[in-house]
Amino acid sequence: MNETYRKCKEAADYIASKLDAKDAIGIVLGSGLGELGNEIEDPIIVDYADIPHFPKTTVAGHEGKLICGKLNGAKVLCMKGRFHFYEGHDMRTVSMPVRVMKLLGVKAVILTNAAGGCNKTFKPGTLMFIDDFINYMGDNPLYGENVDEFGPRFPDMTLAIDREYNALGKICAKELGIDVRSGVYMAFRGPNFETPAEIRFAQTIGADAVGMSTVPEILAARHCGLRVIGISCITNMAAGMTGEALSHAEVQETADRVKDQFKGLIKAIVSRM
Ligand code: HPA
Repeated sequence: MNETYRKCKEAADYIASKLDAKDAIGIVLGSGLGELGNEIEDPIIVDYADIPHFPKTTVAGHEGKLICGKLNGAKVLCMKGRFHFYEGHDMRTVSMPVRVMKLLGVKAVILTNAAGGCNKTFKPGTLMFIDDFINYMGDNPLYGENVDEFGPRFPDMTLAIDREYNALGKICAKELGIDVRSGVYMAFRGPNFETPAEIRFAQTIGADAVGMSTVPEILAARHCGLRVIGISCITNMAAGMTGEALSHAEVQETADRVKDQFKGLIKAIVSRM
């Protein structure tokens, strides 16, 4: 058996002994969004520390818990805390939770993150549906021997983002009166924020937002046939766009300011998926 598959299977078997996530909607909560996990009703919580082969999260605000239960009437499996490439995990580790979700029978995943806006028409606080993405991380969770149990050697990325769910998400936003945008998310390795020159490059090649996560998870999700949508909270204008220096504090402040709107949007979407 392929080593990556074996690890994911052992992790999934352990989680399945604690909870039933069949046909749930997987949600990966990005920076500042963790609170949504507290709103899950009848929660069954599994600590990452108890899951075989799951690494530890090292980022403040990323707690390290899987929470299964009901959110606005929908069955969800929520990841409170994700693994980032910049923490030193390899790509297979970063994308492991998504594959584990697949093995648990999750039907779709919603990936969320905090991102810098490089589209000049965005503002801090803008929510952006990820319509497409650029993998600028210099690595890929699908490198190496293909894990045939999950999917094909050369997976299509034309339809990486699920069109039906993405359209549904935009309808929900409209109904809630949220002025969402959509665009291209470009993933850098981090952990430094980009340089102004890198942001001009990102703008030139068509990025609307930049960040340090999510792309490995989209790749792994698409590879194993999970339906996926992604939403970025634009927490700051990207480097060089305002003349001000960037800080993690600003990222957290904005995420905090729009979290109720963001949570409301996700709750509306899951109830109709
Ligand atoms: N760059 C990269 N990642 C980010 C940013 C940014 O400006 N803001 C929030 N996450």
